[in-house]
Amino acid sequence: MSDGRDPAVSAGAPDRESVAPPPSFVAQANVTDPDIYREFDEEWPECWRRAADRLTWTSQYDSVLSTADGIDWFPGGELNASYNCVDRHVEAGRKNHAAIKWEGKLGETRTYTYQDLYREVNAFAAALREMGVEEDDVVTLYMPVLPELVVAMLACARIGAVHSVVFAGFSADALATRMENAGSALLITCDGYYRRGTAVDLKSKADNACLSVSQDVDQVVVDRLEGPSYPGDHRSYEDCIDAHDGEVVEPVARESGDLLFYIYTSGTTGEPTEVRHTTGGYLSHVAWTSHAVFDLEPSDTHWCTADVGWITGHSYVVYGPLAIGATTVLFEGTPDPPGKDRFWEVIERNAVDVFYTAPTSIRAFMKWGEEVPARHDLSSLRLLGSVGESIDATAWEWYHEHIGGGECPIVDTWWQTETGGVMLSTLPGVDEMRPGSVGRPLPGIDAEVVDEFGEEAPTGESGQLVVTKPWPGMPVALREGTDWARTARGDPDDEHWAYSTGDGAVADEDGYVTLLGRLDDVVNVSGRRLGTTEIESAIIGVEGIAEAAVVGGEDDLKGTTIHAYVSPAANVAGTDDLRQQVRAAVEDAIGPVAVPEEITFTSALPKTRSGKILRRYLEAIANGEQPEDTSSLRNPEVVGELESLVDE
Ligand code: PRX
Repeated sequence: MSDGRDPAVSAGAPDRESVAPPPSFVAQANVTDPDIYREFDEEWPECWRRAADRLTWTSQYDSVLSTADGIDWFPGGELNASYNCVDRHVEAGRKNHAAIKWEGKLGETRTYTYQDLYREVNAFAAALREMGVEEDDVVTLYMPVLPELVVAMLACARIGAVHSVVFAGFSADALATRMENAGSALLITCDGYYRRGTAVDLKSKADNACLSVSQDVDQVVVDRLEGPSYPGDHRSYEDCIDAHDGEVVEPVARESGDLLFYIYTSGTTGEPTEVRHTTGGYLSHVAWTSHAVFDLEPSDTHWCTADVGWITGHSYVVYGPLAIGATTVLFEGTPDPPGKDRFWEVIERNAVDVFYTAPTSIRAFMKWGEEVPARHDLSSLRLLGSVGESIDATAWEWYHEHIGGGECPIVDTWWQTETGGVMLSTLPGVDEMRPGSVGRPLPGIDAEVVDEFGEEAPTGESGQLVVTKPWPGMPVALREGTDWARTARGDPDDEHWAYSTGDGAVADEDGYVTLLGRLDDVVNVSGRRLGTTEIESAIIGVEGIAEAAVVGGEDDLKGTTIHAYVSPAANVAGTDDLRQQVRAAVEDAIGPVAVPEEITFTSALPKTRSGKILRRYLEAIANGEQPEDTSSLRNPEVVGELESLVDE
């Protein structure tokens, strides 16, 4: 836990009205028996068979969990993720069922049936093989939300290659760091994408990244802009498909613990954190939660609005819904522009059953007014979901009333890149909902709120959320007990094993958990996770900057905005030009998403006597509040300077 941000032992969980799921929902729900919690508890870890058995294994696993050498879920089992997400649905006679409905940025639409997906995944898998991609090679994917991205993910999985999807909004430097770390020698990208109606170049960012890594990188380029072909030495995605159309590539049997993908997230160090997810455990976890939490059936159309580049997109745009055999909506756009009706048009046009989005979007919809969704027929919706940050009771009520027509349960799902799939949520066919609280740990998941000594915090007192038993979707580092997984302590057989989530939380008398925000140097901007240390390193790289501290300020719409307190070197003035350089440095190092909203120059940063930056103090300033306690400051002379900002 970082300086000065131990969970305050204070606030109790606010009293909330509970909302029961409507009987019409319960009548059709996948999971309706409240005994599931007790059963999973009594049968742990055997209970997780119910998740694994939603998949098709080519070799049955020997046991559910082994802790003999690290943590191994479903050891001895073999399976292929692409087979589970594509072939088996074709074999089951649903070849002409829609797998993907793509909604392009310019309003274009494309539908892929499971047969179409089968054909294209096979063709691209054959092309990857021809390019020399072998089992366990890491292939980097860098493009917006296009069907070709999903095809490339599944084609990698088919041949046992490991994908690493990098969010297209990240910079060339961020892409290069990730390719270098993964030792990736192949990049699948596209020429560009559209933003506010104009074409934005992506290929030159891809080229710059390839030039700056130490390995040679081949490129395959998807033609998104349908413009003149791009110069340079690369293959065209469309040519790859044409050349291998109709070929069949046998899905490679992967051991349960073999890697499915790398994904990078922001941690507390200056470098992105590499998270590696496995085939059997991860896929079981996301297939199970798609069934139990999102209540998905093959006949459903599921729309998760997240970008595929983030974990939410991996798990609940791609792997979960496709493992179930449902239809997944792939949405390239943003809620606006054009117009403010985009989301509701997509729901109406595709008759979406389950809609999953982030509170930041819901707050924007509220601002635009309830008359916007009221113009559309949203009656196809059966269930709503929320993820990425806490949804306050007001936004919850609005979502429930104006999008769900007062009839759809809402699942507020808590999880992380590290957990792979949902960990805490209500089961919509079983549990009552409490607006603002995510609910209890799912059946089979053991998590609790602990105080600073690792002891369970009394009901109503805040502490840190920790997961106290292994779970199938856990990443490799946690299984091996290495690298960043220092956050997990103890031996898995030991009753004190725990993974610290970095989130503050409080549980009520029924075990319903309310999240209170991060306790470490991670901020959540519009549901996107960024490390303040990473942003600070970029700022400090600017010539003439001595020190920087980045904190999150509260924001009505985005949840959090980034505030940078920057101290220029002696004799360097904090000019607009320097401010511009700071912005550009962050954009180059990470991407526009991380550029600070506010940059404040100050002669020094407030520090404790031991020299740590007092972030809590800066957070108060960022939020326009008078910081309470300045007694622990080593350099109280900065107080006047910073506090005058509050009065401005
Ligand atoms: O702080 C929690 C917040 O998002 C963090 C995880 O971010 P990331 O790894 O990018 O994954 C985002 C989507 C799974 C968590 O540590 N968070 C996620 N879901 C919720 C949440 N905070 C409150 N309520 C949630 N439902």
